[in-house]
Amino acid sequence: MSAAAEQIVVAIDGPAGSGKSSVSREAARQLGFDYQDTGAAYRALAWRCIHEGIDTLEPSDVIDSLDSFEWSIGINPADYFVRVGSHDVTEAIREPHVTSVVSSVARIPEVRGYLVEQFRAIIAQSTQRGIIVEGRDITTVVAPQARVRILLTASEEARISRRSAELTGVSAQATATELSFRDTQDLRVVDFMNAADGVTTIDSTDLDFEQTVHAVVDLVQASTPD
Ligand code: DC
Repeated sequence: MSAAAEQIVVAIDGPAGSGKSSVSREAARQLGFDYQDTGAAYRALAWRCIHEGIDTLEPSDVIDSLDSFEWSIGINPADYFVRVGSHDVTEAIREPHVTSVVSSVARIPEVRGYLVEQFRAIIAQSTQRGIIVEGRDITTVVAPQARVRILLTASEEARISRRSAELTGVSAQATATELSFRDTQDLRVVDFMNAADGVTTIDSTDLDFEQTVHAVVDLVQASTPD
C-alpha cells in the first residue's frame, strides 16, 4: 500500500453460525485484501488455558497468563493458520471442548482490552489495500471508524443447520443447544444482534454462500472510489 493510499477497513460482526468467517475470508480473497479472524484469537487463548491447566472460570489466572501468551494468526486469506507458541492449533481451536469455554475467557474485560489493542495493531500493520476484520465488536469497538461496517445475520434455524453441516458426529439438537447457549453468554458482553448506527445489515438466511460473499464485495466496491 502506498503511503498516500488510504487503507480500507471492512468491519463485519455477527452471531455464531452466520457464516462470517468463511464469507469474510472469501470476500477478502476476491478483493485482494487481508482478513482478520478475531474469534480465533479468543479461541487460541481458550485452547492455551486448557492446554496449560489454567481455570477459565478464574479471571485473575487467565489475566496473569496473558503475559506469556504467544500467538499468531495468518491474515493472508490464502494462508490461514492459528498458532500458540510452537503449536499449530488451526483445527484444534474449533473443537467442542474449546468452544464450550471460549465465552468465559471472552467476557473478561482485561482480556478484551488486551486483544482489542492487538487487533488494532494488526490492522495497522497490514500492507494490503484493505483488510476485512470479523468478530462480534468490530463495528462498535475495534474499528468503529471502518469504511464499511456490516452486521451479517441469519435466522437461528439457518445458523443451526449451517453449523450442523460443519460439525460431523454432533446432533442437530446438541448444535442448537450449544449455539443458543454461546449466543446468550456472548450477548452479555456485546450486542452483535442489532446493527449500530451506520452499520449495514446483510441477512443471509435466504442467500447461499456465493450470494453472501457477493453482497459483501458489492458493498465494499460501492464504498470505494474508482
Ligand atoms: O466467531 P467465533 O465463534 O470463532 O468466536 C469465538 C468466541 O469469541 C465467541 O464465543 C465470542 C468471542 N468473540 C468476541 O467476544 N469478540 C470478538 N470480536 C470475536 C469473538
